[in-house]
Amino acid sequence: MDIEGKVVMVTGAGSGIGAAMARRFAADGAATVVVTDLDGDRAAAVADEIGGEARQLDVADQHAVAAAVGAVETRYGRVDVLCSNAGISTGAGLDAPPEVWRRAFEVHVLAHAWAARAVLPAMLARGSGYLVNTASAAGLLTSPGDAPYTASKHAAVGLAEWLAVTYGGRGIAVSVVCPLGVATPLLLDPLAAGEPAARAVAASGDILPAEAVAAAVADGIAAERFLIVPHAEVARFWAQKASDPERWLDGVRRVLSR
Ligand SMILES: NC(=O)c1ccc[n+]([C@@H]2O[C@H](COP(=O)([O-])OP(=O)(O)OC[C@H]3O[C@@H](n4cnc5c(N)ncnc54)[C@H](O)[C@@H]3O)[C@@H](O)[C@H]2O)c1
Repeated sequence: MDIEGKVVMVTGAGSGIGAAMARRFAADGAATVVVTDLDGDRAAAVADEIGGEARQLDVADQHAVAAAVGAVETRYGRVDVLCSNAGISTGAGLDAPPEVWRRAFEVHVLAHAWAARAVLPAMLARGSGYLVNTASAAGLLTSPGDAPYTASKHAAVGLAEWLAVTYGGRGIAVSVVCPLGVATPLLLDPLAAGEPAARAVAASGDILPAEAVAAAVADGIAAERFLIVPHAEVARFWAQKASDPERWLDGVRRVLSR
């Protein structure tokens, strides 16, 4: 899909990868970029910078998501591209409190379902639309030290595959974005605090700037590619995992014991 002239909505776009995607879409000539975030002030700052529209939005709130999509459709006529990008890390293992487990699944999985449910009726009626879901390399591989993140990101990849299989023949494109380490507060803050989960990510590959991920997303959308993997090593690890899971598990354990 050519992003020029399109109405694009990005969640979690007040920071990091979402903000970089919003900037990139604006630079590539999107008609409107709707910048949404749980933190309304951050959304407003990014929207001001790129001449977009800001909305405070909690992606876990099904009704708020439906209302926000409805308001954009009323104002701009349609949503062409919906980027479900908001995310959180937990740095927790199995013993994470139930509310942490639930929140990870709400923000990383249910949010993608609520967003797709809100935009798909009009997209299917037009026979055109694009869902871009930010998952993670943790959704293809694992994130040692963060069990709720790993499990919910795997579910995010599974949901994206389901959406692509179910709606792909009906004019709907779906991409799932699976970066490894990216230089945003989600990784850099716990890394500065010495958290094991963040250190394991940093030990696994390059830490890319958010702009590089936005560039990979822009290329992926132009090519309508399902799997967008900004770090080349992730594709390699993923292939190794599929061909020899035992060896891959041994390799991850070795990285952890360093
Ligand atoms: N940074 C990395 O290393 C990395 C790697 C792989 C995947 N990701 C994924 O990329 C996405 C973006 O993360 P980032 O690295 O840019 O982090 P970030 O912390 O810079 O940005 C995430 C944004 O999401 C917002 N957010 C959190 N919960 C929300 C909610 N319930 N509703 C709406 N907005 C909410 C935050 O306010 C924040 O502005 C996430 O899905 C994350 O899991 C990040």
